[in-house]
Amino acid sequence: MASSLSDPVKLPCGVVFPNRLVKAAMAELMAGSEHTPTPELIEVYNQWGQGGWGAILTGNVQVDINHLGSPFDPALHGEYTGKDNNFLLVETWSKYAEACQQHGPPSIVQICHPGRQSFRIAGNRGIFASTIAPSPIPLVMGDGFLERLLSPLLFPAPREMTQADIDTVTRQFVDTARLMADSGFSGVQLHGAHGYLIDQFLNPKTNHRTDAYGGSAQNRSKFVLDILKQTRAVVPSTFCIGIKLNSADHSSATFEDTMTQIGLLVSAGIDFLEVSGGTYEDPKMMSTKTHPSEEEKSKSSRTAAREAFFLEFATAVRTRYPSLVLMLTGGFRTRAGAEAALRQNACDLVGIARPAAVDTRFARLLLDESVAEEEARLPLGKAPAPWGVGWIPIRILGAGLESSYYAGQIKRIGKGLKTFAPGL
Ligand SMILES: Cc1cc2nc3c(=O)[nH]c(=O)nc-3n(C[C@H](O)[C@H](O)[C@H](O)COP(=O)(O)O)c2cc1C
Repeated sequence: MASSLSDPVKLPCGVVFPNRLVKAAMAELMAGSEHTPTPELIEVYNQWGQGGWGAILTGNVQVDINHLGSPFDPALHGEYTGKDNNFLLVETWSKYAEACQQHGPPSIVQICHPGRQSFRIAGNRGIFASTIAPSPIPLVMGDGFLERLLSPLLFPAPREMTQADIDTVTRQFVDTARLMADSGFSGVQLHGAHGYLIDQFLNPKTNHRTDAYGGSAQNRSKFVLDILKQTRAVVPSTFCIGIKLNSADHSSATFEDTMTQIGLLVSAGIDFLEVSGGTYEDPKMMSTKTHPSEEEKSKSSRTAAREAFFLEFATAVRTRYPSLVLMLTGGFRTRAGAEAALRQNACDLVGIARPAAVDTRFARLLLDESVAEEEARLPLGKAPAPWGVGWIPIRILGAGLESSYYAGQIKRIGKGLKTFAPGL
């Protein structure tokens, strides 16, 4: 049966999202040089907590301080051996959990390792140290001359992870999840999308291993399945473990492999799957495609739902795995688009990122039935680029500008300042 935005959703672990609108993960770049939650970051979540969201996903928290996505990511500093030995750490993270959840919505920490997508200057490993990845395949931002020139300067070539590296990173994911459970969060989401380490293992383009972690779709899933299994063993059964994954085109060689991998995650007891797409080499998730025109929207709910970037893939997952709680993120800007995606059964949860950085209470607006259809929206243009920068032929630069514009808005929320939507 069709569901509406204000209907609750219960995850297999028992956590209930009171409605279908989820604030998606956005790296806030606000953890300072200590890489811990700062008062401004906590204030941002205090604001989002009052926004009417069914759940809040935090920006990515890195599981190893040596390997960060940005120089200001929150991160785990060392081994976590439980509450009693890490009292101050738990106290710090508990304040964050409380700020998110004190107004109601369950909050889930996205945990991540960037692997080969760690900037040279991000992390404590030193600027000459290599990154780590399933296979030693350097990141190339694009085919252009500048892209090829800058790629090795920005991203050191990765070295192939040894079994000891894999064991360490697996433990770091488990430790981070355990810390978040002890701090009172409702769950974690494994960041398996956007070309980060888990995605690098899942994807045959970045995983050329010939051991138990490479080759078949099943083998390439071993890394994430081990993390999932070992995390389950140390957190309460009521703690949510979700995952964010990239979509694959129907026509792509990896479509069936991706479906197989999702099936393995479902069998292993994942609580929800968020569908996204893109990597640093092809940043689809930062698309600035405008939502359908009024004329298109009035044609059918199918067209309205098309404001979502990865709708077709989500629909395919839904057909294969009907009982999996599915979240679809990317492109939603209107109540009509969100409702249409639910109505056509493409997903259970609608993930919203950029509009939430401009309006912390965007969910409240969409849920408020007294707000007319034409007002229940937040159209967003392309983020403005500083003069001249728009002409530089580097694809990732556009995505970087887009993302840093919204990170700037999130910072403004933390300071109690007004935010601005880029005009269409
Ligand atoms: C400032 C910013 C930071 C982001 N950081 C993350 C992140 O930490 N983890 C993640 O999975 N996605 C991240 N994303 C991607 C969003 O979660 C989302 O997938 C993407 O923005 C598309 O959704 P939207 O069209 O609603 O913005 C980020 C996006 C923005 C704008």
